[in-house]
Amino acid sequence: MRTVDLIHKKRNGGQLTRGELSFLVDGYSRGEIPDYQMSAWAMAVYFQGMNARETAELTLAMARSGDQVDLSPIHGIKVDKHSTGGVGDKTTLIIGPLVAACGIPVAKMSGRGLGHTGGTIDKLEAIPGFRTELTQEQFFEQVNGIGLAVIGQSGNITPADKKLYALRDVTATVESIPLIASSVMSKKIAAGADAIVLDVKTGSGAFMKTAADAEALAKAMVDIGAEVGRQTSAIISDMDQPLGYAIGNALEVREAIATLRGEGPSDLTELCLALSAQMVVLGGQAPDLKTAEAMLRDRLASGAALDKFRAFVAAQGGDPSVVDDPDRLPQAPAIVEATAGRSGYVQRINAEELGLAAMLLGAGRETKDDQIDYAVGLMISRKVGDRVEEGDPIAWLHAGADDEKTRQVAERTRNAYTIGNAAPDMQPLLLSVVT
Ligand code: URA
Repeated sequence: MRTVDLIHKKRNGGQLTRGELSFLVDGYSRGEIPDYQMSAWAMAVYFQGMNARETAELTLAMARSGDQVDLSPIHGIKVDKHSTGGVGDKTTLIIGPLVAACGIPVAKMSGRGLGHTGGTIDKLEAIPGFRTELTQEQFFEQVNGIGLAVIGQSGNITPADKKLYALRDVTATVESIPLIASSVMSKKIAAGADAIVLDVKTGSGAFMKTAADAEALAKAMVDIGAEVGRQTSAIISDMDQPLGYAIGNALEVREAIATLRGEGPSDLTELCLALSAQMVVLGGQAPDLKTAEAMLRDRLASGAALDKFRAFVAAQGGDPSVVDDPDRLPQAPAIVEATAGRSGYVQRINAEELGLAAMLLGAGRETKDDQIDYAVGLMISRKVGDRVEEGDPIAWLHAGADDEKTRQVAERTRNAYTIGNAAPDMQPLLLSVVT
């Protein structure tokens, strides 16, 4: 087999066989196929696409390229959740204990963040003492014991995807639905989940800017799940503004705790309930979404979900008293207001800009070696549709110092808001479900 023939075949709209896709993925992983040929192939896929069978076979070839986690020592159906990423997305911190309290084993491997704010692992490490490195035995034991463990991604999961994604990043081939779908699903499959629930975001703060693109991506991923025998469902949700009010690691933990108390922002609560209900149904703990949602609301109201979070924090070495006294979380020395430039209604919020503002305060990493400041970030006080008067605070910046740099970030925060005379048409948070 020659790589040039496979590039030619795809360029002309042909469909590659399983053997041909494995040849490409394995050859590229081993360094036998050079970057220039793999990028030509990725560009051919960008223009010609791939059918569902090819996409699933590419996914499996990438999943096989490194370690494949065997979660069979954990009892029950393991349901994983994945979000395509968004500003202020702290859903894993809420959904993990919530579904664990319904009997779904949560054995989650999560990443650190590169970009606006930290990933789930960084957020958890904002809790004093919390450890995200467990041995495999400790990980399995904890999930079998309390139903929930979250560890940092270790080992060698999907090296082929890592290499191909880095190549796509510099060859303008990221925005291909079959390539994104296979990249995301290869990691979930290698991580060992039996079933997968996807939160596919759309809007200004998301990767997929339109609902139609988000639906196409969701469908491609659900189809891969069906082809490879892992039940998958997806929720399309709006990311035209941050989720909840907190952006920044310790601030997001605090908001997650409030949500587990049943006192969280309504958008965050609604999305967590919708994703959790899908997980509870796929995990076989409820016959339908309505029953699942009633179970979940009960676990919030009874305090069972909060108790699960407390047990989880303690099991991983964290200070469980933060659950009852969130002031024990890291706190920033300075709080600086960003105020509204005029009176009116918030018509739009550029979520990406707010994420960037949080990063400039130190909540995220620009390069993988940057140190995160867990305490810093933004607490916004107005969301789309809210009324605001000139000079009112629209956000509080939790910062390392009240200095010129922080004031520049406050200006940037103010500029991320579009305020107009009329109340805007409101977009629902949950746009559709793809199963
Ligand atoms: N996220 C991924 O993991 N892969 C992609 O290709 C795009 C986003």
